[in-house]
Amino acid sequence: MPRGNGLQDKRVVVLGGSSGIGLAVAKQAASQGARVVIASSSPERVQKAVESVGAEAQGQAVDVSDERAVATFFSKLGTFDHLVFSAGDSLHLHDLAGTDLQQARRAFALRYWAALAAVKYGSPQIRKEGSIVLTTGIAGQRPRKGWVIAASVCGTIEALTRALAVELAPIRVNAVSPGVVRTNLWQNMGAAERKHLYESVGNSLPVGRVGEADDIAQAYLFLMLEGFATGQTVVVDGGTVLV
Ligand SMILES: NC(=O)c1ccc[n+]([C@@H]2O[C@H](COP(=O)([O-])OP(=O)(O)OC[C@H]3O[C@@H](n4cnc5c(N)ncnc54)[C@H](OP(=O)(O)O)[C@@H]3O)[C@@H](O)[C@H]2O)c1
Repeated sequence: MPRGNGLQDKRVVVLGGSSGIGLAVAKQAASQGARVVIASSSPERVQKAVESVGAEAQGQAVDVSDERAVATFFSKLGTFDHLVFSAGDSLHLHDLAGTDLQQARRAFALRYWAALAAVKYGSPQIRKEGSIVLTTGIAGQRPRKGWVIAASVCGTIEALTRALAVELAPIRVNAVSPGVVRTNLWQNMGAAERKHLYESVGNSLPVGRVGEADDIAQAYLFLMLEGFATGQTVVVDGGTVLV
């Protein structure tokens, strides 16, 4: 059963909230009465996102891969109810022979180590009955050729989610695992290549399309509100694991 009055007057912090899935979470949470705090590395994008979410929203530029910056951000933030971590940068997909291992470490720096820092410094400020929602991806369960690093990060986040749910109880910790979603994450591709990706993946899926950020955001809201779910990864992938 959802607890209390849903998200009304809850304080929801979204790291990676200036774009894509995080921005959609921020907008949906705000539309349900939450007071949203958005953070990402670009002050301009944070400002634009805050304006698009509405008057109650706040924002701050924080590079979440900088541990000290994350610690400082949370030390000044005060208490809050829900932490969402959805920061991520464009993926570099290569077969293993062509994988630059230094670049591969960057994928872990942002998606794993930064998420861990956010939880370490943020969780002491989370109010009773609050929660944390992390972000993984369906590549962990359904890797394709060229996805060795991305799949490894996703599997790590799923294990982290279960471990944190035990470690931080009674704070609930869950994750969302999207399939391919139409966001800025794919902006490092040319327009034609991106269109081909969306069409080919979309056509291969039972739902006949790739995801939109709003599709995925609903799972984060579900996990914030569902007081009996912890340690879980909710898959919203259009049926990717089935094909
Ligand atoms: N889109 C997909 O198909 C898909 C599928 C599976 C999983 N995911 C995962 O979902 C997460 C969100 O992706 P998205 O699709 O919403 O991508 P997106 O639209 O590019 O959003 C990524 C967010 O992360 C922020 N960010 C990047 N580097 C940061 C840093 N160093 N510090 C703070 N914030 C930073 C970006 O803002 P700034 O640039 O302003 O910093 C932006 O707000 C990622 O972890 C991604 O891997 C996405």
